[in-house]
Amino acid sequence: MAMNRRSFLLTSVASMLPLPLHAGGTRITLRPGQVSAHINQQSIDMLGFNGSWPGPEIRLRQNDRLRVRVVNELENGTILHWHGIRLPNAMDGVNVLTQDAIPPGRSFDYDFKVPDAGTFWYHSHYMSVEQVSRGMFGPLIVEEIDPPDVDQDITVMLFDVLLDADGQFETEFEPEQFATAGRIGNIMTPFVSTGKVRLGERLRLRVINPAPDRIFNIRLDGVNGKIVALDGMPLTQLQPMENLTLAPGQRVDIIGDVLGNVSIIESTDTDETELVRIPIDGERKPREGEVLPLPKSSLPRPGLVTYEADLEMQGGAGGMAHGGFGTWAFNDTSGLPDKPLVSVPRGDTVRLRLINNTAFPHGIHLHGHHFWETTTDGKPTYLRDTTLLAAGETREILCVLDNPGSWLLHCHMLSHQVDGMATWLYVS
Ligand code: C2O
Ligand code: CU
Repeated sequence: MAMNRRSFLLTSVASMLPLPLHAGGTRITLRPGQVSAHINQQSIDMLGFNGSWPGPEIRLRQNDRLRVRVVNELENGTILHWHGIRLPNAMDGVNVLTQDAIPPGRSFDYDFKVPDAGTFWYHSHYMSVEQVSRGMFGPLIVEEIDPPDVDQDITVMLFDVLLDADGQFETEFEPEQFATAGRIGNIMTPFVSTGKVRLGERLRLRVINPAPDRIFNIRLDGVNGKIVALDGMPLTQLQPMENLTLAPGQRVDIIGDVLGNVSIIESTDTDETELVRIPIDGERKPREGEVLPLPKSSLPRPGLVTYEADLEMQGGAGGMAHGGFGTWAFNDTSGLPDKPLVSVPRGDTVRLRLINNTAFPHGIHLHGHHFWETTTDGKPTYLRDTTLLAAGETREILCVLDNPGSWLLHCHMLSHQVDGMATWLYVS
């Protein structure tokens, strides 16, 4: 029987993102702490920064220095990670590999240059499934030196929260969640940085998925646009924006012209939910020029492959046996191994074969670098920092490892990461 999917449209109300912090040329302070969020007309204890939920957008320009003093006002330790930024290893914000947790009441100064323009984000990388699922994240936007000509530059964060029967944050982290698709919320709480658009305006939309485990399958209505960047990296050939899939950690940038009310709709097998609606208010004369590619990234193309390794994802419900104590594993080891998966001198190109031998999808994220996804015959396609593999899928990636240090490689479904899916690469 044919059904009109539209008739199942549910609406969730997007909240406004807090006002951005402009970090060019000045040190900013982030105070992680408890905040109360309003979800479903209830006040809920969540975590955020500087009193807001989630954290404020940090904005600066390509090649600026980002200086952030983190003053920990939580009852637990914390660490911040700057997802997708090519930064010095000591600033990467990873427990054990790069720094110790910042204890409650103490502070830590992050200080590094942002070499690439694009859409990035920051989040807790300590007790991360708890801290991120309560809201410890925010957008990190690096503007181009020569930005594209748009009327509005809009940030969207897609997010879901798991509430208990009383409508409060579900504090139990169930074993069955960890062994399957992870902690999937029962309410959508997306965030958007603007309340209105004008007909004919040209928009840049930066969509970020900071959710702990949920993969968003979305489409965009009301905009005639193109995909201009993935995971912050500009595409040399713009892609049509049909259905978009964002694994946890992934980003997509779209530039296009407003044709009507702008909405972002999530489709699942059973229903459609309008996550974000930005209504029309006013009109402007439409632009004549086509949407053009963003300025090219300066990341190196892959060279000759000097080292190859397999990364086999294992475990989970119905998964194969593996060593270690956690539910999930890479190459028979659950949890961070003593030895890195790969150890190479700076500048080497490494081919990693990612093999998903489990019954669930995984979004694999590399720190400190972007890598090239490849076609089945090995040609590099897109630069990404997080790549999504469906159950049973295998994909090769090419990594130009030009940033010295110890870099985490893990599943960005945070329930999987905490339960064993993590390894690291060493670049000398
Ligand atoms: Cu976005 Cu290891 O993280
Ligand atoms: Cu995973």
